[in-house]
Amino acid sequence: MNITKASKLSGEITIPGDKSISHRTIMFGALAKGTTEVTNFLQGADCLSTIDCFQKMGIEIENSHRVVIIKGKGLNGLTKPTQILDAGNSGTTTRIMSGILAAQPFETKLTGDASIQRRPMGRIIKPLSQMGASITSINQNGCAPLSIQGRKLSGIHYHSNVASAQVKSAILLAGLYGEGQTSVTEPYVSRNHTEIMLKYFGGEIQTNDTTATVTPNPNLVGQKVTVPGDISSAAYFIAAGLIVPNSEILIKNVGINPTRDGIIKVCQEMGGNITLLNMNSNNGEQTADILVKSSDLKGIEIGGKIIPTLIDEIPIISVLACYAKGETVIKDAAELKVKESNRLDVCVKHLCAMNADVTATEDGMIIKGGRPLHGAVLDSKLDHRIAMSFAIAGLIAEGTTTIERSDCVDISYPTFYSDLRKLQQ
Ligand code: S3P
Repeated sequence: MNITKASKLSGEITIPGDKSISHRTIMFGALAKGTTEVTNFLQGADCLSTIDCFQKMGIEIENSHRVVIIKGKGLNGLTKPTQILDAGNSGTTTRIMSGILAAQPFETKLTGDASIQRRPMGRIIKPLSQMGASITSINQNGCAPLSIQGRKLSGIHYHSNVASAQVKSAILLAGLYGEGQTSVTEPYVSRNHTEIMLKYFGGEIQTNDTTATVTPNPNLVGQKVTVPGDISSAAYFIAAGLIVPNSEILIKNVGINPTRDGIIKVCQEMGGNITLLNMNSNNGEQTADILVKSSDLKGIEIGGKIIPTLIDEIPIISVLACYAKGETVIKDAAELKVKESNRLDVCVKHLCAMNADVTATEDGMIIKGGRPLHGAVLDSKLDHRIAMSFAIAGLIAEGTTTIERSDCVDISYPTFYSDLRKLQQ
């Protein structure tokens, strides 16, 4: 994909459904009794992997694209798959589904693509094993493929050393099958879509600061869910609207859950002209339209408890920081090294290739903004967020920016390039 400098972006855009919430509608829909009907389900490859895995465990799921219908069979309704489950590129599918598999009365094998087979699974193997499941990394390297032999589980109180919604959700879902309550305490609060959706489907969950506690054996009942637009996808257009001159973009119906809205806070702190309109809420998730106008930005420091609320937005924030005046420091972001790619490393290398002044640190990077970006040939590393972040960087760079293997946007935002083109007309 070739990107050239844009003189202006304008118009309205409706962002596809939230990836995290879409995954969870399939999981809760499968474990609930009765029918779940999901509108605005994200038709990205990751969420389709989740559908495929649950279909392989005997759940009937119809995906007409307009609506996804899941015929749930209750907490104990899954059946042993006859094939290995394939999560594709999806960490969320792999980790959260492992929590469910840990309690099934059968053995499953779970794998994914080359990226998944490099990502750390010890973080779920440890707590789920403590609960009584038998999970092994087949290649004994702490990664997928995994073999999961479900067992009768006991409730635990787990202190996670990473703020990870995937880890938290895996343990909470296993806790639905546990003997007694299960709690997870994390260093900072990570996204809480699992907690919200569990309640919405009729489960019992308490949250207190950084601890979530689930009561086992709920009677989950199928629901109608409307998935809000994904703020992580909206982030590319929020950034583009701020940095491309003469721009004004209205981004419609975006999820602004406070455990996800760090990108809005950071952009506002940097001086971005962003207004939230039409605030609403749907199945427990808050939404708004986001109006963005071109702005002068200044560098800021980003670290600590805001990091989990913008964990997937750090690549695009690094692009914003190149445009901002002054220094931006990103710290406490070592988790980015174990995402779909090593996002810290890739961002630093790609930004340097575009002439930015960026230095890698142990757990983040320091960016001195204001140096003009030059077009460059950049590989996506098959990481959707790298492809989209650098496509946006290309809009303010001199010359042509080429994103190689750019199709990986299909993972979370299949219509990304056509939506971007619409705003340029
Ligand atoms: C996700 C949680 C995040 C995020 C991922 C989706 C989820 O991962 O990076 O894209 O849906 O729970 P961690 O919470 O493990 O950092």
